[in-house]
Parts: sequence; structure tokens; C-alpha cells
Amino acid sequence: MDKFVVRGGNPLLGTVRISGAKNAALPAMAAAILTEEPVILENIPQVRDIETERRLLSAMGAEVELGYGRAQHRTIICCRHLSRPEAGYDLVKTMRASTLVLGPLVARTGSARVSIPGGCAIGARPIDLHIKGLERLGATIRQEHGYIEARAERLKGNSITFDRITVTGTEDILMAAVLAEGETVMENCAREPEVVDLAALLVKMGADLEGAGTSTIRVRGVDRLHGARHRIIPDRIEAATFIIAGALTGGDLLVTNLVPAHQTALLAKLEQAGARFHVNGESIRVMGDNPLRAADIATEEYPGFATDVQAQYMALATQAEGTSIITENIFENRFMHALELVRMGANIKIEGNRAVVRGKSPLSGAVVLASDLRASASLVLAALVADGETIIDRVYHIDRGYEHLEEKLRAIGAQIRRIGEMLPRRAGA
Ligand code: EPZ
Repeated sequence: MDKFVVRGGNPLLGTVRISGAKNAALPAMAAAILTEEPVILENIPQVRDIETERRLLSAMGAEVELGYGRAQHRTIICCRHLSRPEAGYDLVKTMRASTLVLGPLVARTGSARVSIPGGCAIGARPIDLHIKGLERLGATIRQEHGYIEARAERLKGNSITFDRITVTGTEDILMAAVLAEGETVMENCAREPEVVDLAALLVKMGADLEGAGTSTIRVRGVDRLHGARHRIIPDRIEAATFIIAGALTGGDLLVTNLVPAHQTALLAKLEQAGARFHVNGESIRVMGDNPLRAADIATEEYPGFATDVQAQYMALATQAEGTSIITENIFENRFMHALELVRMGANIKIEGNRAVVRGKSPLSGAVVLASDLRASASLVLAALVADGETIIDRVYHIDRGYEHLEEKLRAIGAQIRRIGEMLPRRAGA
């Protein structure tokens, strides 16, 4: 297993370009299931989860061509033949977003068999709302041997109100509804930019829908969809990670190829914390020349403060003067990074879904363990301001969702390198 070795102390200076959004690319790839024609996706990030989805679609019989050379961020997916409409345990256990194929598979082929994802490092993360939504559209659901089996001759439009806001649940049911017979009205939908991006792709494929980006989405089902070409939106979580890194390290960083409107909640908080910004077109310049002060955050669904940025913000809060209260409202167990930050010298107390961070604490390099994607990013950020060397173990979590993180950081002045695990020598070898 690879590790990162980070030596702290350098401010981040220069320009960093943001990649395509993993969480928009994953549903877009699943949407290709809905048509027999090729779907061309651009700005696909080269991260592990995309490779997992490629394997998932290929195992069903899809042809998936990942670009190379100058076309390295382009993917062409053709789901003409779906001989095995199934998502097996081996892939689902490594990536919960595999469940995004459930809705499109039933809609297109009339049946789907998807392994039920187990627990996760950040919470229980059930998929009951995906199942309820499909049942409302007339699918028959059976659960046995760890799998969900969904069947329907043809799905039928209906009204669906999500009991709570779910991002992939909204995407999954939206993909099912576009091929259902008649009208579907979905209420209490997620308003995340990734849902809007998926809807834009579906419309290009011939879907008839409106309201994506609001809590009510109306869909008039069509008989078939066709191929399309679509460019994935920039990754707002990667962008947020770099913006925080710039402020935290006292840097002067130009973060380019992003959508500033996606950063509204973060920028408001960082401004309160004393960082300075300059927004210009598709870039944000962050200047960390002021001392940081504490500011509380509470995670919420979009457009609120993203749960996927909470861990990175906590790293910044350890370097802010005063007490920051960080409340996690989306997932029940998303504070694993706090314990590792404490090992680096942070003063953090966890009280239920609140973390009380008292700053500013000097951090010192240590060996720390990454528990999930965003927790790992938080540890990298802390390491950038820690005294001495930090070794971050299990960086495969980072590889799932950040494209070339260490190269990007090195190019703006960070001292970070990747080391592979030394295999023990065999006796006599
Ligand atoms: C998406 O996960 C993202 N993943 C997550 O990003 C992100 O943290 C999360 O949304 C919240 O913003 C992708 O887009 C691929 P949810 P998702 O369904 O859709 C509960 C990252 O680091 N819930 O919106 O799985 C659930 O347990 C990741 O990139 C149910 O109770 O999240 C949670 O408490 C991690 N029943 C809340 O809803 C359901 O059927 C929101 O989860 C579904 C969800």
C-alpha cells in the first residue's frame, strides 16, 4: 500500500488546475446504460473510482474506451449489449456509488441485480430510498443472498417524495424515470451541481425533464434515448480542498477551471476566518496573508457547507485562533480524521455530531492513517503546516477521488512524495 511522505512548512504558491468532478462522472457513466448508442464524456478525472466503474460497466457487456494521450480525459461508453445486468459484490464493496446502475439497468433492460453495499467508514449509508423510489415506479424488488433484484416490464411514472435528501438516490431514480411511461414528479430532491450535470447529460440524450437544481424535478418519460457528448463539470470538492490549502499554508494560490458559484458556502466561512479571495471568471485566487480566526461550520445539503469539505476545514480550524465548532449533519460517523489530527497535536473534542476545535495548535509530523477519501485530504492539509515529516498511510483512499494530488501539490511548492510499501524479503532471498 502506498504512503505519502509530507514535509510541512511551505506556503502554496502558483496556479493549480481543477479536474473533472468524480461525483458527476460516476452518474454520467451510469447514464450511458440508458441508450444503445455511444455516450462520449469529456473531462473525466483519472481516479480509481472511474476505473472501478469502467470495470463494472464492462462486466455487464458494455464497451468502455478510456482515452489516452491528448484524449486522456475522454471516455466513450457504448451499452449496445448488456448481457449481464448485474453489479457484483466484488466491485460494489469497493465503491458504493456502484448502486447508481440500479435505476438505469431496470429502466433499460427490465431487470437489475445489484449487491447491497455494506457499512462504510463514514456512516451506515443505507440505500432504502433508492429502493422505495423504484418501487414507486412499479419495480418489483426482492432482496436475497446480499443482492437486490429489481424487475419491471416497463417502469411507470409516479410521484415520489424522498424522506430525506439523497444525492445518488435522486440521480438513480432520475435515470429510471426518464425511460418510464408517463410523468414522474420527484420531491425533496438533492440540488447538488452533480445532479444538475446529470440532468444536462440526460437532456442531451433526449430526456424530457425540468427542475434539476431545485427540490422538485418533473420528468416526462420517453421511449428511448440516444447517444450524446457531454463535458463533466469541474470538481467542486477538489477545488475546495485547494482553496483551503492556500488559506491554511499562508499561500497565494490561483485555483483555476472551477465554478465559483459552487464555492459560495466555503468562501463565506473562509472570509469569516480571515482569508482573502479574488474571484475572476473560472478561477479563484486565495491569499492566506492574514492570521486565521475561528469560524463555526455546520454541514448541510447543497447549497450549504458540503460534508465532503468538513474534514479539510477541520485541518484549517486547528490553525485558527479561538474555538471553532464543526457540526456534521449528513453522516453519523464522519470524524475519523479528528483522532488522527489530535495525534499530530490538534486540540479537538468530539461531542456527538459536533467537534470542538481549539486553536491555534502547533502540529507536528507523525505517522497517521487515512480512513476515507476526504479524511485523507484533511491529513495531507494538516501535514503541509506540521513541523517535520508526516507519513500518511493508506493513500489508496486519496487515489479513489483526487487526480494526481501529489503532483499538483508539488507543482505549487509542497514537499510531498509517494512511497510504495517495502515488501519483506523472503528468507534466503
Ligand atoms: C454522495 O453520496 C457523494 N457520493 C458523497 O461523496 C457525499 O458525501 C454525499 O453524497 C453527501 O453529499 C457520490 O456522489 C458518488 P446521500 P450518497 O445519499 O449519495 C442517508 C465523497 O467523498 N441515506 O446523499 O451516497 C445517508 O446515510 C463521497 O466523494 C439514507 O438514509 O449520499 C446519509 O446520511 C463520500 N437512505 C444521507 O442520507 C438512502 O437510501 C445523505 O446521503 C440514501 C441515503
